[in-house]
Amino acid sequence: MVKTQVAIVGGGPAGLLLGQLLHKEGIDTLLLERRSADYVAGRIRAGVLEPGTVSVLEKAGVASRLHAEGLPHDGVEIGFRGHRHRIDLRSLTGRSVTVYGQTEVTRDLMDARATSGAPSVYEADDVTLLDVAGSEPVVRYRHRGEVHEVSCDFIAGCDGFHGVSRRTIPAAALSLYEREYPFGWLGVLADVPPPWHELIYANSDDGFALASMRSPTRVRCYVQCSLQDRVDQWSDARFWAEFRRRLGGEMAGRVPDVPSIEKSIAPLRSFVAEPLRFGRLFLAGDAAHIVPPTGAKGLNLAVSDVFYLSEALTEFYRAPSRADNVLDNYSVRALRRIWRAERFSWWMTRQLHRFAGNAFDEKMQQVELEHLFESRAAQTSMAENYVGLPL
Ligand code: FAD
Ligand code: PHB
Repeated sequence: MVKTQVAIVGGGPAGLLLGQLLHKEGIDTLLLERRSADYVAGRIRAGVLEPGTVSVLEKAGVASRLHAEGLPHDGVEIGFRGHRHRIDLRSLTGRSVTVYGQTEVTRDLMDARATSGAPSVYEADDVTLLDVAGSEPVVRYRHRGEVHEVSCDFIAGCDGFHGVSRRTIPAAALSLYEREYPFGWLGVLADVPPPWHELIYANSDDGFALASMRSPTRVRCYVQCSLQDRVDQWSDARFWAEFRRRLGGEMAGRVPDVPSIEKSIAPLRSFVAEPLRFGRLFLAGDAAHIVPPTGAKGLNLAVSDVFYLSEALTEFYRAPSRADNVLDNYSVRALRRIWRAERFSWWMTRQLHRFAGNAFDEKMQQVELEHLFESRAAQTSMAENYVGLPL
């Protein structure tokens, strides 16, 4: 049977980055991904990197293109009732965020893994995790019709919300916390220079909109939509008309009708499964938790999880006698950060979207936003959460 030290299930940013960090420490990994490499590289997702995320990508040796092409942003804007209020991240926290798409992070990590020669199996079907509570777990999978088995010291479950890893853990060993929101985000990618300099999160009477970007020539824009909506009901013309209405003010007049190059709908959810360790299996990234995208935390949390996990595994291989302490510590450290990000993402989501119904809740939202615009303390709190804590 093939042997490796750490079997990584899932080739998204969490799995790829873990492989790279462990490779730097001389630890062998095998990465199993259900989809094709082209599919993984083509997915359009998050766009904002915290400084802590950038420093981990530097440590992993995959930050040169990020430094050359990433866009540093010193502030973000919040639109409400026809006005835009700037949150000055740099002056409030001394730090800024970097706009660099998850697609690019993934590509840089895939290139680094190919260069390192570490093995990856794409289109690995029916991945099954066996004996995860014992000291020699096994991963079984099917590739091009043939069944393979890999024995390993540890399994890293980096296979996203719908993956197999979390489902392998007995229900009694996990606590689950979940909230679903009654709307989704419709996202559009388009090749046009962004008319805005910084991201604009707009709370309008017609619902939330976000003006973001990927590069000096490419925008990424979102509108809050119904969970029943389908992409084919949203022509480009309908999307831009709605986006302009919600953005409002003089900026609306500067948004042209451009053909979309990608359009997708994502539901919004908050979710945590804890702890992040069961025997020799660890959960990291979306496999363990989901945040609604309003706080721009999903990718950043995947990176911080994996950073802590790489430290725990490295320490284990240095001093296996302290194994349990070190391995449990991963879950404790990561969860502290996860819950902070859950709170912030939930807060941003609640303040910026239209929820059906309750007039009292609507008043509270208005008062909370006015407080944010008037109070330096409230802005500092938002800015600190948005840029994230150092790792
Ligand atoms: P993923 O990127 O989901 O990677 C998991 C990988 O595991 C996938 O490649 C999957 O194919 C693979 N896999 C799944 N099951 C198996 C299996 N059984 N065997 C082998 N491999 C398997 N965050 C933001 O901050 N802003 C956004 O705008 C934003 N948009 C998003 C849009 C969508 C549609 C989704 C799903 C997420 C979005 N996120 C966003 C969240 C952010 O992209 C994620 O937090 C981030 O991708 C987490 O990385 P990950 O590696 O943990 O999981
Ligand atoms: C994005 O550019 O895709 C993006 C930016 C900020 C968010 C969510 C998504 O909060």
